[in-house]
Amino acid sequence: MTTPARAAFAAGLAALALAVPFPAFAGEEAAVVKGKGAASAAKGAVALPRGFRSWTHVRSMVVTDPEEGMYGFHDVYANRAALRGLRARPGRTAYPDGAQFVVSIFEVKQEKGLVVAGAKQRDVVQLKDRRAKETGGWRFASFDPAGKPVAIDPATCWGCHAQASGTDHVFTRYTE
Ligand code: HEC
Repeated sequence: MTTPARAAFAAGLAALALAVPFPAFAGEEAAVVKGKGAASAAKGAVALPRGFRSWTHVRSMVVTDPEEGMYGFHDVYANRAALRGLRARPGRTAYPDGAQFVVSIFEVKQEKGLVVAGAKQRDVVQLKDRRAKETGGWRFASFDPAGKPVAIDPATCWGCHAQASGTDHVFTRYTE
């Protein structure tokens, strides 16, 4: 990891420690959105992109402490536009509208010296949309394991992602 990347990541993790009670991905209330009309009526609704499992897998991360807001086995996926942003030279990061990330978060299973992903907990989405000015030009969403939207307060997501200001509010780092 380069020093700025390490710093940004440390900042992210430090923020995790501060997030008590953790608002990150847990503690969200289930919002059942029925039918297309309801989904599009929800202000700023972001869909869980179909086929994101075929996007580029960028990174994995494990937060082993169940008391942590971001507890879980994280797999981060990027679509093409997001991948271009990730690969941009340091200091030149700017994501175009439509750039999108999905993090699949699983239980952490530790057995016989292995740490593996257990049952799916949720998928979280970050979509570049410059109209979403209040949240840094990104829209945030969360989905339960069945793919149903979960109610979140995007301001909570933004409260933490705002710290990654040197990389257009994206924490994930890319390595070949
Ligand atoms: C306490 C800080 C914090 C909060 C709050 C937070 N995140 Fe993140 N987020 C991170 C960190 C650190 C990463 C990079 C590590 C990872 O998830 O694998 C990340 C990564 C992501 C990514 C992958 C793209 C990127 O920026 O690296 C998405 C998508 C994402 N978060 C969505 C959300 C959503 C949706 C919410 C609100 C429900 C949220 N986040 C709230 C810290 C936070």
